[in-house]
Amino acid sequence: MALITWDDTLSVNIKKIDEQHKKLIGLLNSLYDAMLTGKSKETLGTVLNELVNYTVYHFTTEEEYMLKYDFPADKYEFHVKEHNEFKAKAADLVSRFETSSAILSLEVFNYLRDWVKNHVMDTDKQYQDFLNQQGVF
Ligand SMILES: [Fe+2]
Ligand SMILES: [Fe+2]
Repeated sequence: MALITWDDTLSVNIKKIDEQHKKLIGLLNSLYDAMLTGKSKETLGTVLNELVNYTVYHFTTEEEYMLKYDFPADKYEFHVKEHNEFKAKAADLVSRFETSSAILSLEVFNYLRDWVKNHVMDTDKQYQDFLNQQGVF
């Protein structure tokens, strides 16, 4: 069973970003599935690294959009702060995973699911109207 199912409530009405969110959710679901089906530490590590790397790439895409279209500085800084806090958490998760793969617990998956949903639905949606009004869809 998928940890998160993408639906329209997660859309920010910008095609490239929606596609990236779908891919991100797909990777998170793959990691969840790999954990549930007892895949090897090596496999889990590969998917975890792919997820973290893609997340960093995705954050960069959003930050570039906000800079390119002059998103208000205070809102930009707030958004980047959330990204950076999550990157720090993800780096910590990866380093703890290297010591013990048991760290990929249901609790961790619940945290990841809630963070992604809340960030997309609250913080990411804050640039939606601003970018749409400038013709970015
Ligand atoms: Fe996002
Ligand atoms: Fe974001």
